[in-house]
Amino acid sequence: MKKIAVFTSGGDAPGMNACIRAVVRTARYNELEVVGIIRGYEGMITADFLPMNSSSVSNIIQRGGTILKSARSKEFRTLEGRAKAAENLRNAGIEGLVVIGGDGSFTGAKIFYEEHGFPTIGVPGTIDNDLFGTDNTIGYDTAINTVVEAVDKIRDTADAHDRLFFVEVMGRDAGFIALRSGISVGAEAILVPETETYIDQLIEKLRKGWERQKSSSIIIVAEGDDSGGAYEVAEKVKARFKHYETKVTVLGHVQRGGSPTAADRVLASQLGKAAVDALLAGRKNEMVGLINRKIAFTPFEKAIKHNHQINRELLNLADVLSM
Ligand code: F6P
Repeated sequence: MKKIAVFTSGGDAPGMNACIRAVVRTARYNELEVVGIIRGYEGMITADFLPMNSSSVSNIIQRGGTILKSARSKEFRTLEGRAKAAENLRNAGIEGLVVIGGDGSFTGAKIFYEEHGFPTIGVPGTIDNDLFGTDNTIGYDTAINTVVEAVDKIRDTADAHDRLFFVEVMGRDAGFIALRSGISVGAEAILVPETETYIDQLIEKLRKGWERQKSSSIIIVAEGDDSGGAYEVAEKVKARFKHYETKVTVLGHVQRGGSPTAADRVLASQLGKAAVDALLAGRKNEMVGLINRKIAFTPFEKAIKHNHQINRELLNLADVLSM
């Protein structure tokens, strides 16, 4: 293998730049040519290729976002789009791919490999932490810290006005951000899609707090919770429990930005290097992750389809400590 390409795809995540840096530098260390593909699969179709060297990735390890841009490509979902992308890669002499992204990106990579045979290694980059085959995804730790910083501030004003706050955090199908940040901020309740939410139980919990003269409360709601987002849950509670003045904050895309934490920078560096090493060792069609601090490979098929299970002990911990 003489030439590889790296790209970021799907929702961006803090630490993607640190990972691009690791891929480019490891490739150059091994005397491979490396190009960055701009806007993920979209750029593959338009042949938006950027030759890179060690200095192209200077001064980016601390930056959020992705210097290669990201997109969710509709055209790549078509046979014709993928054929065009393959032709462009072949014309540019690209023999291997590193995709940094989430499950949608790996689904695309798997189909592309089956149709056109480009060896591809995936690196998990998403704030949601919803991929099977790694303890943490790149960006997850930073997103949690962003939530904690914001909710600590909300707690101050909630307390000053004796209010009940419903704070919605990201996680379309997964409650990882909600659970960890909720424990960190001492939330009174954490609502996640992995468990059924009972409004009765939530009201009962709030009532007990009220009886104990609790003046303010924070409820963390994952956006994908079965009972709805924070606005919906707040309405349901307000209709039946009127003791507190109720407010809703949706944190939104602030969770996707910012400088990556040290943990995310190290993880991104380890996985970026391991991805290039894997291509050189002839591996393909797999995601590289870190399980119990060791590099581990999981076929795309499994990484996408198997659920990364939420930690039930942490759910229980949150429940016990929020009495
Ligand atoms: O997958 C990451 C994520 O941030 C989800 O938590 C969220 O639901 C989604 O992306 C938002 O996507 P977009 O930026 O396209 O609105």
